[in-house]
This record gives sequence, C-alpha cells and structure tokens, in this order.
Amino acid sequence: MLQMERFYAERVKDMRGSDIRDAFKLTEEPGIISFAGGFPTPESFPVDLFQEVFQKLFVEDYSGLQYGPTEGLDALRRELALQLTAEGAPCSSENIIITNGSQQALDLVCKVLLDPGDYVLVEEPSYVGALNAIGNYQGRKIAIPVDEHGLRLDIMANRLKDLASKGQHPKFIYTIPNFQNPTGVTLSLERRRGLLDLAREYDILIVEDNPYGEISFGQEPVPHIKTMDDEGRVIYLGSFSKILSPGVRVGWMAANEVLIRKIAVAKQGTDLCSTTLGMKVALETLRSGKLQAHIESLRILYRRRRDIMLRALAAYMPEGVHWTRPEGGFFIWLTLPSYIDTKAMLPFAIAEQKVAYVSGIGFHVDGTGQNTIRLAYSQAAEEDIEEGIRRLARVIRERIEMAM
Ligand SMILES: Cc1ncc(COP(=O)(O)O)c(C=O)c1O
Repeated sequence: MLQMERFYAERVKDMRGSDIRDAFKLTEEPGIISFAGGFPTPESFPVDLFQEVFQKLFVEDYSGLQYGPTEGLDALRRELALQLTAEGAPCSSENIIITNGSQQALDLVCKVLLDPGDYVLVEEPSYVGALNAIGNYQGRKIAIPVDEHGLRLDIMANRLKDLASKGQHPKFIYTIPNFQNPTGVTLSLERRRGLLDLAREYDILIVEDNPYGEISFGQEPVPHIKTMDDEGRVIYLGSFSKILSPGVRVGWMAANEVLIRKIAVAKQGTDLCSTTLGMKVALETLRSGKLQAHIESLRILYRRRRDIMLRALAAYMPEGVHWTRPEGGFFIWLTLPSYIDTKAMLPFAIAEQKVAYVSGIGFHVDGTGQNTIRLAYSQAAEEDIEEGIRRLARVIRERIEMAM
C-alpha cells in the first residue's frame, strides 16, 4: 500500500478531525441520553412547508436542477438584502453571496483573507468549525475569553496593543454574538459598539457569525454589529440551517461588494455554485410568508427544552458547578471544579450512567478548558433531558467526592 502521508501538502500536515465529531460516534448507542450533538431536533423541520415548496419546484419549475450563478440566485440575494436592510444594515444584492452553509462562508473568508501565519482573534471558547477553517489556512489564533456578556474587550484591547507594539496586524476578529456556540452567551450592545471601535482603531475586519440569532427566547434582539458599520468592516454570516434544516445547506455572507466579488472568484474554484435546489427551497420558503410562524414555533420548542435543562441543573448539580443561562440558541456551558477533567470523565459518563456531552477542550485554542462541558438541549428528546442531567450530576458528584 502506498504511504499517502508522503504526498500531503505541508499545510495539511497538522489538520486534525474534530474531537466533537468523534465524540458523536460514542453517543449513538441505544440507551444513551446525549447532549453532545448540537444539531436541530428533527421535530423542528418544517416538513409540510417543504412538501409544498418541493411540489411547486418540480411541477412548475425545473431550474432548481440546473447550475446557478456563483454568487447565488439573484432573487434570493435580493430577499436577503431586503431582510438585512430591514434589520438595520442597509445593503443590496451586490453585497450578498450565497454559500453552501455558513461553514463554507467561513472557509471562503479564510481562503481569501489569510496568509500562513496571519493572526485572527477568536472568542475562547469558540465554534470548532471556525477554528478549523482558520487552521486550514494556517492562520494563528489568538484566544480572547468570553464572560456572561460575551467577548472580554479589556483583554482584547491589551492583546491588540501588544500585537501592534510588535508590528503585528491581525486580519480579523471572529465572533458569534448571539447565543454563542458553545457557551450560549450574547455579546452586549455596549460591547458590540466597543468591539467595532477597537476594530476601527486597529484596522481589523470583523466576521460576525449569526446562525442562532433567530432562535431567541423573548428578549429584544440586540442589533447586529453590521448595523453599526458604515464602512464595510463587518462580514456578516447568516444561515438557514437552524431555522429550516441543515440539509438544505444554504448560508450567506453580507459584506463589502469588492470583497464579495473576490469571494465569488474563490468560490468558483471550490464548487462553481451553491446547491441550486437548496437555494430554491430557501427562496420559496421566504416567499411563502410562512417562515416567520415556523421560527416562532422553534422559539417555543427550544425555550421549553432550555427551561427543562436549567431547572434540572439547579435541582441536581452539586455545589461548585456553574452554568450559563442562554437567552436563545441550543447550548448551555458548564464549568466544573478545576481539578475535573471532562474528557477523561466522558467514557465513564457513557459507560456507567449512559449520558453523553462534549468536553469543552475542543472549543479552546490551546487545549485548556478541561473542566468545561458543552450541553446541547437542541437534540435530546424533551422527556429525557431531566433524567440526563440527573445522570450527569451523579458522575460529577462522584468525581468531586473522589477528590476530597
Ligand atoms: C457558530 C456556527 N457557525 C457556523 C455553523 C455552520 O452552519 P451551517 O454551515 O450549517 O450554516 C455552525 C454550525 O453548527 C455554528 O454553530
């Protein structure tokens, strides 16, 4: 057999698969209550709406089976531009490119902006898919911690000053301002303004990734950073994955039109165009006038799950365990006493208590976060959430007692 590694490009030698994807495999056994997968629950898929839309596509219109423009279907770009304009960030279809999920947008941003060794500021913890995309283009990640109000701007300001004093100029800041993956926290309005001020001061772009923003549980939405941006510094990413289904693979990017044109050139070499079927489905669901009601139903569904999980955490977790209280999205973040290694604990949790989670280590840049856990309430069956938390609390209590 040929030894394939000899042929690898230098840049992929350190590429690693995600720990999180590996963890999912362990959680598929029967009887396991899993809070690992951050997927939408299949109950949330608007099956009736899809049936209506697909019917229309194949009876009246076959263009969904054809190649499409690299930037995406004009009509969909226009709809999304109108939506973002209504949300306070004026733009036109020239500012929009449709991508195969927002993950592809992240990949294309890195492809176009990063030279090997370029610095990118990221939240810590942060979304693994973004950390991997930055790593794939040999970007260097600088981790800025988040607290319950999002990014710690005081720490970011110091890091930026420090980098500037060494003549270093980071390319962009990556943030998930709403109901962040993995912590569930939301970046406060004050910090959004402060972040943009810092980006201006040091001349850095901002990538604002917002796949969970629509899944909010009642609070007034905090304006997008993009709404405060009058010079095209913010690259905004949206997605249909959490409000329709990830299987349609439709995401989008709103940015300065010069950058969008360059991204489109990069995308030509990647996949020619986004899935035309997916774009058609997204467009028709937007036009159906039924999407908003569907999003309302998702808010109710996920809010109920969040409430059950928060109640169970309060009831069962031992002292010394802390967690976030998300106002939307899919995730709660647990911090355990510092001596507990959640990665080492996972096989015991699965084997002895039949409960699974994702260790927080994978969401950190440098292998720290060993005492943290991401819990997704999005995918576990609603009736299993309380029992799952009770089991997890038992595992954690055992570890605390062992250490005493
Ligand atoms: C923060 C964040 N960004 C981007 C994505 C990618 O989503 P998609 O490619 O399905 O739009 C995810 C998926 O979970 C995510 O959590």
